[in-house]
Amino acid sequence: MHIHDTIAGLRGARGRSGRVALVPTMGNLHEGHIALMKQARETADTVIATIFVNRLQFRPGEDFEKYPRTFEDDCEKLATHVDHLFAPTEAEMYPQPQTYQIEPPPAQAGILDGEFRPGHFRGVATVVMKLFQIVQPDVALFGKKDYQQLMVIRNMVREFNVAVEIIGGETVRAADGLALSSRNGYLSAAERAEAPNLFRILTKVIEAVRAGSRELTMLEQRAMAELQARGWIPDYVALRKKLDLQLPSAHDSGLVVLAAARLGSTRLIDNLEV
Ligand code: PAJ
Repeated sequence: MHIHDTIAGLRGARGRSGRVALVPTMGNLHEGHIALMKQARETADTVIATIFVNRLQFRPGEDFEKYPRTFEDDCEKLATHVDHLFAPTEAEMYPQPQTYQIEPPPAQAGILDGEFRPGHFRGVATVVMKLFQIVQPDVALFGKKDYQQLMVIRNMVREFNVAVEIIGGETVRAADGLALSSRNGYLSAAERAEAPNLFRILTKVIEAVRAGSRELTMLEQRAMAELQARGWIPDYVALRKKLDLQLPSAHDSGLVVLAAARLGSTRLIDNLEV
């Protein structure tokens, strides 16, 4: 694995032959990230990972400062899976303030997580567009763990005619169901023991829908109430259309249930496709 901290270095080494896959991350890598690297390897000749904790997508008061930075460990985990790692400094990515930004439409980026993290998806779309320009991949992989992020990126690529194929990877979970996340490291032992209940409660929601229930609002409210009763502070539990995350009408099929909730000071998100 070759490690680059400059755009010029990465571009010089990237090569022009074969299919190139990009897997952007913010580091503190776990099996969910590694699964994307492996999936990238199956579809491309050259696999490029990036590690960059993108200040633009954090709101004031969020965890940008304390976001876990574990570069040495990450390099060890990546070494056998990728050909190049691009890990730029902030000065390399943002040599001056980023005055041009990608503003995703409110219908996609102002709902669900975007409602609780205003500007978050603008920061994500902007850095992902920059990474696409820097790396110029043929294909890029993103996890379904961040379902709304994947949708926003797919739509951005389509509307800007970006010549990058977007592939979504399945969510990797711990044995007890908790979706792997860099933020799980913030949980106390007691919170970690409680955390899989988010997955369990979402599972009950999709099982009810699969069994034919169309009382979607009731299912959402019941799941929120159960989380609250267990000490969580839920932001939302929402049954939406997979394709665009809009409200389903009576006979829509192809639903996904998405949730965000705080356990202590840690905000966790998860989702399950029906
Ligand atoms: P990060 O949270 O590091 O995640 C990097 C990629 O790994 C994302 O595509 C995310 O959806 C995926 N991922 C995270 N946990 C996963 C899991 N348990 N199973 C499968 N995939 C998982 O998402 C970001 O970084 C940033 O927003 C980024 C896209 C890099 C832009 O800054």
